[in-house]
Amino acid sequence: MKINGQSWRTIWLDDNGHSVSIIDQTLLPHVFRIVRLDSADDAARAIRSMQVRGAPLIGVTAAFGVALALRTDSSDAALEAVLALLHATRPTAVNLHWTLDRAAGVLRPLAASRRAEIALDLALRLAEEDVAINRAIGEHGADIIRAIATRHPGRTVNIATHCNAGWLGTVDYGTALAPIYRAHDEGIAVHVYVDETRPRLQGAALTAFELGQHGVPHTVIPDGASGHVIRTRGVDLAITGCDRVARNGDTANKIGTYMLALAAADNHVPFYVALPSRTVDLSLAAGHAIEIEERDEREVLSVSGRDGDGAITSLSIAAPGANAFNPAFDVTPARLVRAFITERGILAPADFGLLADDAA
Ligand code: MRU
Repeated sequence: MKINGQSWRTIWLDDNGHSVSIIDQTLLPHVFRIVRLDSADDAARAIRSMQVRGAPLIGVTAAFGVALALRTDSSDAALEAVLALLHATRPTAVNLHWTLDRAAGVLRPLAASRRAEIALDLALRLAEEDVAINRAIGEHGADIIRAIATRHPGRTVNIATHCNAGWLGTVDYGTALAPIYRAHDEGIAVHVYVDETRPRLQGAALTAFELGQHGVPHTVIPDGASGHVIRTRGVDLAITGCDRVARNGDTANKIGTYMLALAAADNHVPFYVALPSRTVDLSLAAGHAIEIEERDEREVLSVSGRDGDGAITSLSIAAPGANAFNPAFDVTPARLVRAFITERGILAPADFGLLADDAA
């Protein structure tokens, strides 16, 4: 996707394959800074600190982290150590753990001398796969938006979203935002209500930035306003991304998604989840088994932004001594999800059996 007219992906290989570069998402939209990852420790730090975030991008970053580690030591012990290091970075997004399990399956049986090269091939392949999957999600999801536009000629289709499931959360193109980009590029009039997404503000900082760069009309709203907006502003549909979906369709995504889904259901607005089909974790029967990451309370007790002099600064906002609870994700029950927009088409939980058949 483009920033000020120049095309970027969120992660790429450079220096003749000796390092990996990312865009530091903790500084956007105020500062555009590229950060170089030279080691698995760098990759782990980038994931933990959320310089890279979003389930698909975390997975691909981990794959590159494995490749970086094996360049210097490709022994069995080094392989197990890097897998453990990266597994421990963030618990909820299944993409991370799926990627590391896949890397383990491919690399463990290999002679140590071949591991570095194969690990790099795998990371590059996963990055390309991610882009192709997201384009397909965009096409399938755009059918839904197109159908609404056809039913209401001459009027803008209003879409609500939460957090950032755009190109910044993936290698390129995004999941929840992919159908929106596709519809907009076709000339369908769309407008997006963007939940600001406390406490890390991925909506206000990242989704609004992306949509603005792509020329998609949008409005940032406080998270608490989403019910009111859905009830009074003619929202046609909601689309979010997700970090893990259980076999029954229960969906873990950024904290606040459940509230948006409840507000959508109460107002008969369809709520869709967009995802690569492998975000369905067939090993989990229902959402209660999904581990929910809990982050530092300081994220809730403060806000950061850019001051009048252009410096990025953090301000305390709570009463001194206040405690905070900071769950990073919640689980939306399957009954609130109209359908899952995947690269394989629009699926219901009853279709997830097909994914199991394919994996077998
Ligand atoms: O904590 P984050 O910013 O990694 O959470 C991101 C989300 O919840 C996204 O909606 C999800 O990972 C999908 S990104 C395409």
